Amino acid sequence: MQTITAQLEKAFRSAIQQSFGVDADPLISPSQNEKFGDYQSNAAMSLAKAVGEKTGQKTNPRQVAEQIKAKLDLGDMVEEISIAGPGFINVRLKADWLAKQLEAIEADKRVGVESATNAETVVVDYSAPNVAKQMHVGHLRSTIIGDALARILEFLGNKVIRQNHIGDWGTQFGMLIAHLKTAPTGETRIEDLDKFYKEARQRFDSDPTFADEARASVVRLQAGGDEETRLWQKIVAESRNHFQPIYDRLGVNLTQANERGESSYNPLLAGVVSDLKKSGIATESEGAIAVFTEGHEAPIIVEKSGGGFGYATTDLAAVRHRIDTLHATRIIYVVGAPQSQHFQQVFATARKAGWAKGVVLEHAGFGSVLGPDGKMFKARSGESVKLKDLVDEAEERAMKVVNEKSADLPEVEKRAIAKAVGIGAIKYADLSKDRIGDYTFDWDKMLAMDGNTAPYLQYAYARIRSIFRKAGEEPTSAPIQLDSPYELAIAKQILRFSEVIQQVARDLKPHLLCTYLYDLATKFSAFYENCPVLKSEGATRASRLVLCHLTSTTLALGLDLLGIEHPEQM
Ligand code: ARG
Repeated sequence: MQTITAQLEKAFRSAIQQSFGVDADPLISPSQNEKFGDYQSNAAMSLAKAVGEKTGQKTNPRQVAEQIKAKLDLGDMVEEISIAGPGFINVRLKADWLAKQLEAIEADKRVGVESATNAETVVVDYSAPNVAKQMHVGHLRSTIIGDALARILEFLGNKVIRQNHIGDWGTQFGMLIAHLKTAPTGETRIEDLDKFYKEARQRFDSDPTFADEARASVVRLQAGGDEETRLWQKIVAESRNHFQPIYDRLGVNLTQANERGESSYNPLLAGVVSDLKKSGIATESEGAIAVFTEGHEAPIIVEKSGGGFGYATTDLAAVRHRIDTLHATRIIYVVGAPQSQHFQQVFATARKAGWAKGVVLEHAGFGSVLGPDGKMFKARSGESVKLKDLVDEAEERAMKVVNEKSADLPEVEKRAIAKAVGIGAIKYADLSKDRIGDYTFDWDKMLAMDGNTAPYLQYAYARIRSIFRKAGEEPTSAPIQLDSPYELAIAKQILRFSEVIQQVARDLKPHLLCTYLYDLATKFSAFYENCPVLKSEGATRASRLVLCHLTSTTLALGLDLLGIEHPEQM
């Protein structure tokens, strides 16, 4: 089914074409003010300007709007077209038409969302923790946002390739290997990654013999030494043992199969540099090989003075690999905003080198997680928060909420609900804010049963499911009646779903879906308070049950796409 916006766009475009002989974007958006209508076109203002310039006569936007209106053919879609303010064209949709649209998707599990006709191969680079270090909250954001984006792009029919670009290479491995070598024999587990890292660092800083051994170890590792390679692999594998359970508990779709660490690009790095040199893009600068890009004072270093490649070279090799081998047409980097310079420069270099023809490269950056004090979110100890502790605490706190709310459920079920609510709360708190900004980590807010939170949406879903349990049926097909404003409001909201999903996929902003779901749940609540469902009769009851069903399908699908569970009861 075509989205309402798409249908309006088509009609407006043609009206503008007929009136003024130009092809212009009708600038359709949901109405600012529901009093005036459901959708509006803002095209008249800029069109008046353009027409005025062309004819040399001052043109009034309201007149332009009138002319567009006169040519508009919206069939049986609209109730009323009105012009407001300087020339906004407002459209109010007809209830009968809305009902028909809804009837067409009554049993559609995709709520009318079509698969993309221009499906792409999309690489989503997300999570990317560093080996031998605990994942921190920055990786949490990348993991949660990246996973939601990957799900949404996949749902739209794209081929999504998840890439976990773990930091598994660098000079620090010398000291880690040297440290592991002297670990008590038989010790094969690294219980505490941070502790292990800190111990190694401390020895490196205080013991010159150890430091020499560490440096020699890196050299041997880079030369492919057997012993060093084995120990390095062990450190990577041990780190994986720490990351994977967190992905699993968070319900994040990442496994070892998605892992392509920095080290995997080693064989490609020399080629990247020599190609950039050959094409004159990389030049010598203060002993190093560097690429200068427009608008950036400092170049990116692709080869250090004295040899050796770094983070930027690896990312350049990764871009090439993703385009040439994975055949990506869109590559999305879900990485914190502080790395935006880095990505701008990497993208500019790849484009200049001609590696990214027809490929969209995007940095979906995000802000920091702040503590209640407005500073970087830290544990009470002052150290960075361990994700494992965070996940544990979320489940514990959620259990309290569940104990209050659903005291009489069996213990196992309460545990499962608490897991869904706790994990859902963390993920939703992160997803529901515009990713570009910082956000404050606040347990009480994210676990609140009202407001724009996961528990509120989960509860809304469970409440609808309980209506069906009481009704003993879940009708998915009946003629729809939209008599009250409450029913109309839900209908319009449900019909906007596919448009919102497409917008999220385009702008890479999951919070738009969150806001949408929250609005839907709120509108449902108003409907449910004002329109009896089970107590009504006949065709009204059947229609209202279908509205309930459509709402629950939309909530469930929306939460699925965000990677958030929705228990059947709460
Ligand atoms: N490991 C890096 C970090 O922790 C993030 C890597 C992001 N991805 C990339 N292709 N550079 O900061």
